[in-house]
Amino acid sequence: MEDAVDADFLAWPPGNFTSNGDLNSNPSQIPSSYTHGAWPYSWSGVASIGWFHGLSTLNNAVFGVNADPSTTADASEELLGIDKETYLGAMFQNASNPKFRLPEGAKPSEFFEKIDPTPGTPGINQVIEMPEYPKGTLFMQNGLMAASPGYRVAEQINGMSAWQNTLAPPPYQATGDREVLKRGAAVFDRAGCVDCHSERYFTNHKVIPQQEVGTQPSRAKASKGFAENFVPPQTYPPNISVPLPPNPPVLPIPTDITPQEDIELAYAQSNPAGGFKVPNLIGLYLTAPYLHDGGVAASSEALQQDEDGFKVANPDQLGLPGTLLKGVKPDASASLRVLVDRNLREDAIAANRADERLQRVNVEGIGHNYWVDRQAGFTTQDQTDLIQFLLSIDDDPEVLPDSST
Ligand code: HEC
Repeated sequence: MEDAVDADFLAWPPGNFTSNGDLNSNPSQIPSSYTHGAWPYSWSGVASIGWFHGLSTLNNAVFGVNADPSTTADASEELLGIDKETYLGAMFQNASNPKFRLPEGAKPSEFFEKIDPTPGTPGINQVIEMPEYPKGTLFMQNGLMAASPGYRVAEQINGMSAWQNTLAPPPYQATGDREVLKRGAAVFDRAGCVDCHSERYFTNHKVIPQQEVGTQPSRAKASKGFAENFVPPQTYPPNISVPLPPNPPVLPIPTDITPQEDIELAYAQSNPAGGFKVPNLIGLYLTAPYLHDGGVAASSEALQQDEDGFKVANPDQLGLPGTLLKGVKPDASASLRVLVDRNLREDAIAANRADERLQRVNVEGIGHNYWVDRQAGFTTQDQTDLIQFLLSIDDDPEVLPDSST
């Protein structure tokens, strides 16, 4: 098992991560930190209600709770079909910190009780039990909220959200003239990108069924198991201090700030394939590779222009095997061209699929077949203008599409 775990982790592309309890290896790009106006959160949009429109839920889930697998011990039987002792034993038997290493013959849960730095609460991290624990809700997916003694309920996760919403990419220094960006924005309109990447933050906030967007399917349904144990979401008010007093007041959390159909899609309930939410496009010039699995990548040397358009000049600089997996930085402009040009994309997908590591972790760079290429009736100049426009989308874009102004 140790070897299998190592092989999996070593196959994760740099910058990809997963902490889903679905027993599948589907590490995805760390989502954009430019979170303002970009709800629902996470690639599938599973964090969509409560404070900061779901951002506090995301911050809690990934960084407060999933990052500490011992918080899942009480749910391991129901969620993963793994007996609690086996689950804890697997975690502790070879712990790198000798203090946490399971001695021969010890019962894992009893050993954990002895070494637990936070006795009396589940897991190692500092958490509080929500009213529904050990069940979960749309708000706190496993019924636990990261909260340190001495703070108030949600003070830390809400503080993180408030701060994160102030982050913005450094202004993009456009090289071309404004006319190029205007033409690119018009292509963005004409190609139908605005149907989904609409409004000021370039998202309509919807979750798109996996079958429709067609990107790598594994991650879209990764949260299905969680939702099967959900009860109606509740929280303690934010003026309550941690540790909780006896019988703290409880408030219901409204769920109607996100359409029910999007909530169900995000958790693969109505549609077993699940979906991906429409991400914002802020800061693309900094965030290559693209798509949730990061499979859309090309180095600055990968492509070359001839009279018929752009061709692959260096096939060994395509996809993740040609970039991040060998320490080469993906180039934003070339990678965006691979995103919107079906011929180039085909070659990038082939490069990804030829790599055993990526097969193991469900990274392909497929789907999102919204093309701005010759076959779709666009010229190479249209494609280049669109890319210039996409690169220019920073916190205060110089040009916005007509349809969004
Ligand atoms: C039907 C809705 C829809 C349309 C139309 C659409 N997109 Fe997207 N877009 C999405 C979704 C959903 C994702 C996330 C998919 C994933 O990562 O699996 C996405 C992802 C992206 C990304 C990658 C973002 C990142 O951070 O990795 C870019 C760039 C992008 N779209 C640009 C475009 C452009 C340009 C067009 C038009 C040619 C377009 N999109 C048309 C829904 C759409």
